[in-house]
Amino acid sequence: MTSDQLPVLAVTDLSVTLGHGLQAARVLRGVDLAVGRGTTLGIVGESGSGKSTIAKTIVGLHRPEGGEIVFDGINLVTASGRERAAVRRRIQLIPQDPYSSLDPHRTIGQTLAEAIDPVRARVSRHKPEIEAALAAVAIDPNAAAKFPFEFSGGQRQRIAIARALISQPEVIIADEITSALDVSTQAEILTLLGQLKERLNLTVMFISHNLAVVNQICDHVVVLLHGEVVESGTVSEVFANPQSEYTRRLVESVPGGKQFSLASE
Ligand SMILES: Nc1ncnc2c1ncn2[C@@H]1O[C@H](COP(=O)(O)OP(=O)(O)OP(=O)(O)O)[C@@H](O)[C@H]1O
Ligand SMILES: [Mg+2]
Repeated sequence: MTSDQLPVLAVTDLSVTLGHGLQAARVLRGVDLAVGRGTTLGIVGESGSGKSTIAKTIVGLHRPEGGEIVFDGINLVTASGRERAAVRRRIQLIPQDPYSSLDPHRTIGQTLAEAIDPVRARVSRHKPEIEAALAAVAIDPNAAAKFPFEFSGGQRQRIAIARALISQPEVIIADEITSALDVSTQAEILTLLGQLKERLNLTVMFISHNLAVVNQICDHVVVLLHGEVVESGTVSEVFANPQSEYTRRLVESVPGGKQFSLASE
């Protein structure tokens, strides 16, 4: 990472246990990662390796057992509630499934108004921002009065992106945002994400099963296995010269090396 890419977000020695009592399981162990401002970090690993847990812990949905999550110099693990709340808006998660992530009982406008102001979610008060956010993801701004069921999967994912962007975050965590979509819609969403990243100078954590896509759009990559980082580095280093046996198998398992893909996407 060069000096103009100082990490805006750095996770150090992160451990997370989920579940209680006999069900409790250590899901992340000693995870280290850093994302340089304006860069894209890929996180890859098989199903259950802990990718979503990293994302959710960063945005405060899980409490870590140990480790640090430092955003812009503030350790979110030890920060006060007020400090955390202020910082949280600057890191936004786009969840995997646009069918379950949008509230079916709220109009798109209400969902976006709530993202701006969770307490007084008033569409009328935030009309200009809502319309601008929808326009930015190529959804008709007049669609704010519609409900999620009136949109296709790709349109819903665009709306989920608009919801993440409406609070003008610096970091976007995209958790397998295309895996619920058909192939041509996946490409549209990835193109949109790339355009928004450039236009808004976003820093992106891109969680994916698809190594070909990670190879194409990420600067750095972290490979996760059973809750631990087995490899990290620039995408070109890791794909050209994998150091761990697991990553080597992952890269080599792909005929011609063109279609790096973990199963089940
Ligand atoms: N609330 C929970 N309580 C207990 N265990 C959980 C909980 N949520 C997730 N886990 C376990 O944590 C592990 C990591 O899950 P996680 O969802 O982070 O994996 P993932 O890499 O995102 O997988 P996928 O690619 O399928 O989305 C899994 O073994 C999962 O069963
Ligand atoms: Mg996941």
